[in-house]
Amino acid sequence: MSDIVEKLCKNKNLSDEELFELISSDKYDEELYSAADKARRRFYGDKVYIRGLIEFTNYCKNNCYYCGIRSGNKNAVRYRLTKEEILDCCKEGYALGFRTFVLQGGEDPYYTDELICEIVSEIRKGYPDCAITLSIGEKSKDSYLAYFKAGANRYLLRHETADSGHYGKLHPKDMSYDNRRRCLYDLKEIGYQVGSGFMVGSPFQTTENLISDLRFLQDLKPDMIGIGPYITHEQTPFAKYKSGALELTLRIISILRLLFPYALIPSTTALGTIHPNGRELGLKAGANVVMPNLSPVKVRKFYELYENKICTGEEAAQCRGCLERRVESAGYRIVTAVGDVKKNI
Ligand code: 5AD
Ligand code: FES
Repeated sequence: MSDIVEKLCKNKNLSDEELFELISSDKYDEELYSAADKARRRFYGDKVYIRGLIEFTNYCKNNCYYCGIRSGNKNAVRYRLTKEEILDCCKEGYALGFRTFVLQGGEDPYYTDELICEIVSEIRKGYPDCAITLSIGEKSKDSYLAYFKAGANRYLLRHETADSGHYGKLHPKDMSYDNRRRCLYDLKEIGYQVGSGFMVGSPFQTTENLISDLRFLQDLKPDMIGIGPYITHEQTPFAKYKSGALELTLRIISILRLLFPYALIPSTTALGTIHPNGRELGLKAGANVVMPNLSPVKVRKFYELYENKICTGEEAAQCRGCLERRVESAGYRIVTAVGDVKKNI
């Protein structure tokens, strides 16, 4: 094993220069994948956790330059699921073995705190053995606390980039990296299991930016880390920028696994979108979670954060079966356990 990968495996105290070398060179890739696989097996064996994703609204008040459901995209066909529809997704998901429901949506003021709390507490009542994950963006600490008290116990909010200058190039002026950070630390303080993360290959991203992302995560110590390649979308100001690369995304997954051996790291839909076996490769590089879609098929294609998103025509059961086969072909096995983070082994 090369000195640098060995150092990463052992003490995790790499200098910025060493991280730069690892991120910007392809010569360590095979070593990184196998070291990352060893680390994930030490904590999680060959287990891959499944999370049922319910994309319940594609209305969004924000206007992020990279995202297909930005408020400025007047061509997007908008939809909202009712509480009953969301509960139906949970029912179907539970029967398919899901024990985590991820409610994800744009920042949609239609869902007041009261309504979110009502939805969360009904899911909590119906499925006391399940984890409820929210991914609904930036809110006040009081709102986060209210959702938590209603029964939500995990929250996903990618920081997107930990460099405020870069953050400003990806978002309009009314959004700030400071508020994003504030949200993440509030969520942690309240007691959520917190997931953060970023896009790989987003416009203007430099290797230094990626190092800042890793440093930020070392400070936050999230339970979950979601990364995926940036993928272009025609109806955004970034239409002309090319998508992020598979190799770099896999390399960063491996580095994350070695820096955060305990973490829950999904092999994302975006990774499966840029390469037919992207999710299998993500698992082999150290990811240990997959997130099949539980949203009703009639709305799937409208949750279009980026172009050519996969899984928009398949029923929940089909995605579940498809992923089962894919996970097995990569040498792992899906488990239906609730899958909390393992901080100690
Ligand atoms: N390509 C890839 N990922 C995207 N996201 C949003 N837009 C895109 C895109 N064009 C990611 C963001 C967000 C998550 C829900 O989806 O990182 O946090
Ligand atoms: Fe949805 Fe393969 S996971 S079709």
